Amino acid sequence: MCDNPFTFQQPSSLGGNSGGSSLSVKISPKDQLKPKGLKGISDQQLEYHFETHYKGYVGKINEIWDRMQTVDRSKANQNFSDYRALKVEESFNYMGVVLHELYFENIKDGKGTSPNARLMEHLNKNFGSFDKWKEDFKACGIALRGWAVLVYDLTNGKLINNGLDAHNMYGLLNTIPLLVLDVYEHAYYTDQGPKRPPYIDAFFENVNWDVVNKRLDAALKARP
Ligand SMILES: [Fe+2]
Repeated sequence: MCDNPFTFQQPSSLGGNSGGSSLSVKISPKDQLKPKGLKGISDQQLEYHFETHYKGYVGKINEIWDRMQTVDRSKANQNFSDYRALKVEESFNYMGVVLHELYFENIKDGKGTSPNARLMEHLNKNFGSFDKWKEDFKACGIALRGWAVLVYDLTNGKLINNGLDAHNMYGLLNTIPLLVLDVYEHAYYTDQGPKRPPYIDAFFENVNWDVVNKRLDAALKARP
């Protein structure tokens, strides 16, 4: 799993509209998560994806959090306001960071790994078999516009394939992501053009199941 990405910086000055916030929370890109030498997903494809798209979200969330230090909260308005715009784009950009980090981590160095008995037991219980889960996960990745995410549902202890149209659209709350697949065009266009299914097949060739097994262990411990 990843190290804690957060560093804390004291802002140089606080405006009168800081809303009680006294710290600016900044994050840095996690270069150690960049995969290389994958089967069926080229280094050039990964380079564009990691350096341009992922790091773009890191830069924008830091900019948003900076602006939140001084935004005028007294003018907050649901139709339009600077504060509303910051909150909406915070959810898009921060989830853009989080989902990409989970995605890159779960396809890096996966050679020789496999789902362990505990993960197989949960996939069998919730989907009937590994193959039935995989078929549904692939359909989810084709039907949605942003992400397919296998999640552990803390409310009922279920595994669910959650499809997202964007980083912040249709994600199920009170769940823990176990396996994350990026299906935005930017994830495969360099290699595959418009053909998404072969990219999803290549994704499965590279999954680091050790990472997924560990995420499930942590999720099971998190359920009261
Ligand atoms: Fe992406």
